[in-house]
Amino acid sequence: MTQHPLISVKDLNVHIDGHHILKNINISIPDKSVTSIIGPSGCGKTTLLKTFNRLLDDTANVTVSGSVLVGDEDIYAPHAEVTHIRKKMGLLSQRPYPLPMSIYDNVAYGPRIHGIRKKSELDVIVEKQLKDTSLWNEVKDRLHTPAAKLSIGQQQRLCLARGLAVKPEIILGDESTSALDPISTHKIEDLFVRLKEQYTIVLVTHILRQARRISDYIIFVYMGEIIEFGPTEEVLLYPKEELTKQYVKGFIS
Ligand SMILES: Nc1ncnc2c1ncn2[C@@H]1O[C@H](COP(=O)(O)OP(=O)(O)OP(=O)(O)O)[C@@H](O)[C@H]1O
Ligand SMILES: [Mg+2]
Repeated sequence: MTQHPLISVKDLNVHIDGHHILKNINISIPDKSVTSIIGPSGCGKTTLLKTFNRLLDDTANVTVSGSVLVGDEDIYAPHAEVTHIRKKMGLLSQRPYPLPMSIYDNVAYGPRIHGIRKKSELDVIVEKQLKDTSLWNEVKDRLHTPAAKLSIGQQQRLCLARGLAVKPEIILGDESTSALDPISTHKIEDLFVRLKEQYTIVLVTHILRQARRISDYIIFVYMGEIIEFGPTEEVLLYPKEELTKQYVKGFIS
């Protein structure tokens, strides 16, 4: 089945402090699939991920040129609205950052901001998102206790639930399992695989085994350039480019 691109990047260049960090990036990320960005430390993975929801806007001395289309919208067009763009994306960072409030209020936070006030409506959303992130059975008896009391792995799933509650189209994850134990890591990985039925998922990871386990597509980045992009098996098992071969064999880290 051919996948439609949901994110299309054209001639993207990013300079930070005069350094050319991302170089002539052209890529189409398929809809309803998991795409992992891999590459050595400092190659530009996080920067690339940040261009997808204009998170670089918050960084000093940045110049971005080129375009990033999300659906039909060029998110770098002069009239583009950052809040609207970010609403389409759920972002899961390396460590969980639950809001300092109850489990229930964390998930209800976004919907409340978007004007949902009725308790019965919020109850339905909270239950659905906690079920979708496999947390419901673990927390249903303590929904009104502080989120900070959950384990780190549970907190990360809660952050995912909070992000999903505002109905994004895209989930972005930057090494989102790096602070987690192996069991919690597997739970998050399983969730990504399950959630790709409904969302487009783009993950940064430096763990090749993880990329292999959960991704449909791989982007290999090296020194700010995309060296290779393709289906996971092709890139990891039968890479076309010499640099990719070296990286998957562990010769470049
Ligand atoms: N805010 C910033 N100010 C200055 N330089 C930056 C900034 N953000 C990123 N860079 C530089 O851009 C390059 C790419 O950084 P980036 O964080 O995207 O790499 P990465 O591939 O995510 O690395 P890692 O695997 O270590 O997380 C690095 O050389 C980094 O020093
Ligand atoms: Mg990074």
